[in-house]
Amino acid sequence: MTRIMVVVGSVRPGRIGLPIAEWVRDVLLTDGAIEVDFVDLAELALPFMDEPNHPRLHDYLHQHTKDWSERVDAADGFVFVTPEYNHSFSPALKNALDYLSSEWFRKPVGFVSYGGVSSGTRGVVMLKPAVAGLGLVPAAAAVEITFAARQLDDEGRFQPTEQQEKNLAALADELVALGSALAPLQKRHAHSPGA
Ligand SMILES: Cc1cc2nc3c(=O)[nH]c(=O)nc-3n(C[C@H](O)[C@H](O)[C@H](O)COP(=O)(O)O)c2cc1C
Repeated sequence: MTRIMVVVGSVRPGRIGLPIAEWVRDVLLTDGAIEVDFVDLAELALPFMDEPNHPRLHDYLHQHTKDWSERVDAADGFVFVTPEYNHSFSPALKNALDYLSSEWFRKPVGFVSYGGVSSGTRGVVMLKPAVAGLGLVPAAAAVEITFAARQLDDEGRFQPTEQQEKNLAALADELVALGSALAPLQKRHAHSPGA
């Protein structure tokens, strides 16, 4: 089984990122090859990065960092569900990324982006250099959702289009393939390259 962490990047009250991420989670759970760890950054509630030592030293002071490290370490790959804010991605997601280093190293990541007119693609363009610096390996498949709020039903659930479902299925397949290809290249807690 490939253990995929689905991260809800938006933390603001009323966010549409939560129902979108719940759709992603539910689809991945129907894939017999995938286990899901669902991480809502609003619930995780990491403070602004408050560790005194560089994360690549893996010398964490705070329990919230140790817990986050253990959780990310256990993942074989990630889906980041991110809104676009001012042509960039969610700052809560950047904060969660910055806390750790080798835990991300040589693991695959896929993006489900959404926003207004841009469908979050400009945010993902900004996100890719940050994940590359950590040694995460971006999947080519992606889900991009324009005017995502229009796809919520009366109960607030996200209703995907057929194309979005196909794109998510392609992303899931790619994460499983990359997860097994990259696993032998991961060195747990080796000092990964610094920024
Ligand atoms: C502070 C802020 C900045 C935004 N900037 C953009 C933007 O640059 N491009 C875009 O397409 N949508 C933008 N939007 C629209 C959001 O992508 C849209 O409101 C989305 O619902 C936000 O995700 P969330 O509800 O999960 O927080 C912005 C929204 C907010 C609140």
